[in-house]
Amino acid sequence: MSGARTTRATAFAPASVGNVAIGFDILGFAIDSLGDRVTVARRDAPGVEITAIRGVAGDLPREARDNTAGRALLALQEATRPGFGFSLEIDKGIPLGSGLGGSAASAVGAVVAANALLPQPVSRLELLQFAMAGEAVASGARHADNIAPSLYGGLVLTVGIDHPRVKQIPVPAAIRAVVVHPHMFLATAQARAILKLSVELSDFVWQTANLAGFISGCYTEDLDLIRASFEDVVIEPQRAALIPGFQEVRRGAMEAGALGCSISGAGPSMFAWTLESSAAAVLAAMRRQFARQSLATDHWVVEVRSAGARLIEPGT
Ligand code: HSE
Repeated sequence: MSGARTTRATAFAPASVGNVAIGFDILGFAIDSLGDRVTVARRDAPGVEITAIRGVAGDLPREARDNTAGRALLALQEATRPGFGFSLEIDKGIPLGSGLGGSAASAVGAVVAANALLPQPVSRLELLQFAMAGEAVASGARHADNIAPSLYGGLVLTVGIDHPRVKQIPVPAAIRAVVVHPHMFLATAQARAILKLSVELSDFVWQTANLAGFISGCYTEDLDLIRASFEDVVIEPQRAALIPGFQEVRRGAMEAGALGCSISGAGPSMFAWTLESSAAAVLAAMRRQFARQSLATDHWVVEVRSAGARLIEPGT
């Protein structure tokens, strides 16, 4: 389904959990059961036109350069010069301002669908860079911790911005991710604006040890090391106050047996990693604590492995 004769394609791009506690802006994993669908069609006029935005976040900018998917397609177009324009329809499955990588998924879906229309499709790494240009519209900074897992699937580490290196990290099969979205809006730009620009040396040491320990634990299936390393001492303490009941939700998850619990992306969603046997109890504890804050929730329990973004038949 690629090449000059394809004139219309639809892609599904999954939601994602960014940062994964200790990997601020560089580590994320995909949530395959939630995502955006993006349809891109070839049009004779140059440029990018957004013809429809539907679903749970229909109120997004229609001007291509102000829209994450539109901006990603403009970046792709400028680099590949296909000789035709694109029209774009976005079906949002991921709520806006949820911390579940919605802006990233729209950008990823757009470039994956558009790639199927190019006479010479580009590599996945190039698609990552176009999508990063798109997501910067929403968060105010270029980072790939949502883009890369949405595009590649699973748990993904991205090293570098201008010349990114992407590594899919194996996750022990027994682990499940519990993701809970409280029904409130938190703008990524706001959650970034409150962050201090410098880090204490002792926190730097602790955080780098935890990131190294977490990734080593994943590769060696060392659950004890994953549990011991699952603590963000830099970003989470600064953002916790933005999420009603954060401490109680986290404590509830840990007491129910989670390996770790933190903020999903910029929040307000939270996630925990746990063994499959504890997943139901961890989920119940997290939802109960959000309910005590009068916050209704959506939730997902997923394996941390998935196919990432892919072409689909329209309507699926
Ligand atoms: N890494 C980003 C953040 C994810 O936490 O601000 C949201 O775009």
